[in-house]
Amino acid sequence: MADVKKLYIKTYGCQMNVYDSERMAEAMGGAGYVTTEDAAEADMILLNTCHIREKAAEKVYSELGRFRALKEEKPDLKIGVAGCVAQAEGQEIMRRQPLVDLVVGPQSYHRLPQMEARVREGEKALDTDFPLDDKFDTLRQRPKAKRGPTAFLTVQEGCDKFCAFCVVPYTRGAEASRPAARVLEEARDLVERGVREITLLGQNVNAYHGAGEGGDWSLARLIWALNDIDGLERIRFTTSHPNDMDDDLIAAHGECAKLMPYLHLPVQSGSDRILKRMNRSHTDESYLRLIERIRAARPDILISGDFIVGFPEETEEDFQATMDLIEAVNYGYAFSFKYSTRPGTPAAERPQVAEDVKSERLQRLQALITRQQRAAQDAMVGRTVGVLFEKPGRMAGQMVGKSDYLHAVHVTDDRVQPGDLAQVEILESGPNSLSGRLVSV
Ligand code: 5AD
Ligand code: SF4
Repeated sequence: MADVKKLYIKTYGCQMNVYDSERMAEAMGGAGYVTTEDAAEADMILLNTCHIREKAAEKVYSELGRFRALKEEKPDLKIGVAGCVAQAEGQEIMRRQPLVDLVVGPQSYHRLPQMEARVREGEKALDTDFPLDDKFDTLRQRPKAKRGPTAFLTVQEGCDKFCAFCVVPYTRGAEASRPAARVLEEARDLVERGVREITLLGQNVNAYHGAGEGGDWSLARLIWALNDIDGLERIRFTTSHPNDMDDDLIAAHGECAKLMPYLHLPVQSGSDRILKRMNRSHTDESYLRLIERIRAARPDILISGDFIVGFPEETEEDFQATMDLIEAVNYGYAFSFKYSTRPGTPAAERPQVAEDVKSERLQRLQALITRQQRAAQDAMVGRTVGVLFEKPGRMAGQMVGKSDYLHAVHVTDDRVQPGDLAQVEILESGPNSLSGRLVSV
């Protein structure tokens, strides 16, 4: 029997990194690796890192330091850093932390097997080149392992928007879309392996413009084609930019049965002055009008967002404008962050807001968002919603899944299995999840 080696991957950051980690595991499958959940038994450890917020690199270095004892115990253990910190720091990582054998950027990991062969020979391997070849194409020959009911599928990568606070255009590169036929092929393959819900991923997913039959396809066109795949029951997509919400995509939210009533549409701030300084190219007003149009197409849609507080030169008045926007939109979910300086981005050079002011604003914003989130979840009580069950819950006989609106839902009923899509009457709203009773399987 071939020598089976174990690969431990720790994933930080966004869903695109989760998808990339799966692809890395598949690529390394070709080099004789199976994945493990236990770093102590690994022959190779990969940290798939995120660079979006402050101290990301420092956290990676301290995590790496923790592997020293393991490496001493097991000299053959190889350690790699992947993802956006790898892209941003490059060679510096191996200089600062000699334990590291391999550094691979988010656009180069399809070459991991060749890199692994080099590190096994005792060399160090660094690859942060942007691909001349299509990384996803190289990874097409995958083993047909069975999958859980939900999956991510990256359709678009990179970003040309250059928001003044953001490192993504530098670490992930220019905006690029995968050809529609490739996406559809991967989706059909996932469905054959048991997947019933696909979340299309991209840093700017609604800027999708992949080559397809008759010219470039929009995201709406891609969603309609996915809608025709038998066995695929649910479609989601994230993350979107307000400026790329075209009419067809808005209409799809009202008309496409498999497209779920949930939309993540980051606005970052409600102050036009700050939005301009952020280089966001939309206004408070244009965002609110957009939300109106989306709700006209799909009145029950749950909107989620991202917010940054304490962006350079943000005044109390600017912050208040963000709070007003939140009141006006009424979010079902949100992610909120204190602005953190990212070296190399334009905003890093501007006058900064004091840390205690940022913390205090974040607290107020999160209190408001939490109230809205709570209200949106509580409003589900008494309604009957679709739930795709994913796994057993903590209590005996309990199953957990996600509702159409992405709320976690518990049901105790031995008729449901992971992968079942059922109608559930919601009876109770708990701190972090809903519970209900099966209406139909
Ligand atoms: N500081 C704080 N938050 C940031 N984000 C991106 N860059 C920064 C930064 N420098 C947030 C934005 C984005 C989300 C993914 O991360 O809100 O939408
Ligand atoms: Fe970053 Fe999103 Fe702005 Fe692109 S649109 S620069 S990914 S925050």
